[in-house]
Amino acid sequence: MSDRPLLPPMAFITPEEIRKFHKDGFLVLEEFFSSDECDAMRAQIQRIIAGMDVPLSCRTEFSTKQEEQLQAQGSAEYFLTSGDQIRFFFEKGDFLIPKEKSINKIGHALHAYDPIFKKITHAPKVQALARKIGFQDPVVVQSMYIFKQPGIGGEVTPHQDATFLHTEPLGRVVGLWIALENATQDNGCLWFIPCSHTSGVTRRMVRAPPGTIPCTQFVGSEQVYDDSLFLPAPVGKGGLILIHGQVVHKSEPNRSERSRHVYTFHLMEAKETVWSKENWLQPTSRLPFPPLYTEN
Ligand code: FE2
Repeated sequence: MSDRPLLPPMAFITPEEIRKFHKDGFLVLEEFFSSDECDAMRAQIQRIIAGMDVPLSCRTEFSTKQEEQLQAQGSAEYFLTSGDQIRFFFEKGDFLIPKEKSINKIGHALHAYDPIFKKITHAPKVQALARKIGFQDPVVVQSMYIFKQPGIGGEVTPHQDATFLHTEPLGRVVGLWIALENATQDNGCLWFIPCSHTSGVTRRMVRAPPGTIPCTQFVGSEQVYDDSLFLPAPVGKGGLILIHGQVVHKSEPNRSERSRHVYTFHLMEAKETVWSKENWLQPTSRLPFPPLYTEN
């Protein structure tokens, strides 16, 4: 049993848990959201999928080199301009199964444009959590709904989120990862190397020059991590995992018959922080990064 007191959500996190987060670089908070809140997000995503409109280039395998090049350009554009949109991304090559079974994730602005996800993102308990970890002026930089489909949800290799979401200085980005159904070792829960968030990043993903395929490239290389250093972080439905931007984490393929749906978003402490202009994700005039501390 956790020693977290059964208090209203505003008082839900203990000083000991805050210390643990800063020490380990991640923290599992069971039952942060209710089962009803999780079901509301899942039902909303089903409505979004029912109405989704996906460019053919993202759902078709082409045979000639020229067609492949056109597809790559279309996909790159679709990804690079998804920061202020609700867009759909699929498992590689799984074009023969129904789209609702092969969808990998929806990104990257559910938090801004969908009323259910906006409400969850700005929930008073989320704002209180951000305050507790010391954020003074947090903004929401992106959000994703991840499906980890049964049997085909692929592995996510070891990485640090700051590789993709770089700031000056480092240490200003935190991920909130909400399990919408039980996440276990069987269906692909997260794994972490505790205390791995204190020594910078060795790899960055940056935008390639306009028109280049692929549209992003890596500078530096990911370290090789000893597999035995990773600890699994299973969490029940409604649980939230706080992820420091530099902590090393991964997930295994989903080899089970159960999905592992997750809603996740990233916050950045905007005070005295510079968002890298080289990040693939950029605020736009349509969607500047919205402040977290607002009502919705
Ligand atoms: Fe990550």
